[in-house]
Amino acid sequence: MEIVLASNNKHKVAELEYFINEMCREKGIPGVKILTLRDIGFTDEIVEDGATFEENALIKAGAVAAKGYIGVADDSGLCVDALGGEPGVYSARYAGEPCDDRRNNELLLEKMKNVPTEERTAHFVSTIACVFPDGRKFVSRGECPGTILYEYRGTGGFGYDPLFLYEPYGKTYAEINAEEKNAISHRARAMAAFTGRFAEEITK
Ligand code: IMP
Repeated sequence: MEIVLASNNKHKVAELEYFINEMCREKGIPGVKILTLRDIGFTDEIVEDGATFEENALIKAGAVAAKGYIGVADDSGLCVDALGGEPGVYSARYAGEPCDDRRNNELLLEKMKNVPTEERTAHFVSTIACVFPDGRKFVSRGECPGTILYEYRGTGGFGYDPLFLYEPYGKTYAEINAEEKNAISHRARAMAAFTGRFAEEITK
């Protein structure tokens, strides 16, 4: 069985690959090959114009399913309470196109500069969609709460990681290793919900 990950973000691809391999091991699903868009020569532009994370994840996975593959896609982002849920579905391009993590983080810091510590709550959201070539589809969601810092901490990860403090660890997402992040992240939580449903669908 081939699964195509509909993302060009190498960090997300790495995390999803880890989770799918874990899922296959746990559920005893043999012979799954994980492919990327590049592997299948997919070069179409995918327009992510959904109003929600779920819609965008389904658009991305659906684009791959339309080519005859099982498509899996994550759509994710950061929702900051003091900013009314921004950047939300615009997380990747918060500071405009082309997407640039550093500029996005600078904009977030600027907008949050006068927000007091106790009001800097936020959460990451991950929605993971699966679309089969025969039209079956589902999407799962996971969230992880945290706090937006006043300055960068840590050098690992990607996106908003250096500004997102995960309180139970007392560290930002950029200060923890992949194993620690994969144990608690929004993507891990979405994947926990995804696993059972995927196993159900492929054994139908
Ligand atoms: P997408 O690829 O359109 O789903 O955009 C997701 C965006 O949300 C990324 O470009 C990051 O800015 C942000 N994001 C999602 N997940 C994470 C994460 O685990 N760490 C840091 N930023 C993330």
